[in-house]
Amino acid sequence: MTIDIVNSEVRNFLNRSYTPLDSEMEKLRNIGENDNVPIILRETEELLATLLKLKKPKKILEIGTAIGYSACFFAKYCKDSQVYTIEHDEFAYTAAIRNIKKAGVDDRVHTYFGDGEEQIEKIRDQGINGFDFVFIDASKSSYKRFMESSIEVSSSGAVIVSDNILIHGLTVFEDMDPKGKHRTHRRKMREYIEFITHDKRLSTTLMAVGDGVAVSILR
Ligand SMILES: C[S@@+](CC[C@H](N)C(=O)[O-])C[C@H]1O[C@@H](n2cnc3c(N)ncnc32)[C@H](O)[C@@H]1O
Repeated sequence: MTIDIVNSEVRNFLNRSYTPLDSEMEKLRNIGENDNVPIILRETEELLATLLKLKKPKKILEIGTAIGYSACFFAKYCKDSQVYTIEHDEFAYTAAIRNIKKAGVDDRVHTYFGDGEEQIEKIRDQGINGFDFVFIDASKSSYKRFMESSIEVSSSGAVIVSDNILIHGLTVFEDMDPKGKHRTHRRKMREYIEFITHDKRLSTTLMAVGDGVAVSILR
């Protein structure tokens, strides 16, 4: 069951003004959507574009590459940036490498295979840190450890975006899950929201954009 966080008519109205970055990105979005790959929603992409325009990041970290849609978007949108992206699913990782190469951004998008937290440690061991933009978009129950690791490698003033914080409404509506199958997911996401909105290192705004987005600024 899906509950609309935002009225679907409102969403459709807003989505009418969405413009793909270029025809290649449009093709990749179509592939992702047709294959049910959970790439960023259009409205989330638009919010990210605004944040990127404001922040102009040089070093972007992403946890959750999937087929590389958002990684390509980051690289194409921020032409002076280096993008480091992590994926633990081999099939998705292979597809991402192919798509990133095809998009012509493989010189600036660095792909890492494995768990988000472990690979951030590897990136740090390679002497790479000072990220000024982070996108957390992987396993929802691991967001807290991804955030902790991201903070370690980010610079003061970094923008850290967490996607899907409303998990199709599950975070809010307990009656969407009468058998309690997603109880742990809900509890962990609620704990995560509590953490990012109260941790003194962060200043966080929660937004009902797409599937719910948290924008945190590292103090
Ligand atoms: C929502 S998709 C990412 C979509 C992508 N950011 C985009 O918008 O194009 C989430 C991805 O995170 C990956 N993932 C889940 N848990 C992970 C983990 N612990 N470490 C690394 N990747 C993980 C999944 O395999 C999946 O491909």
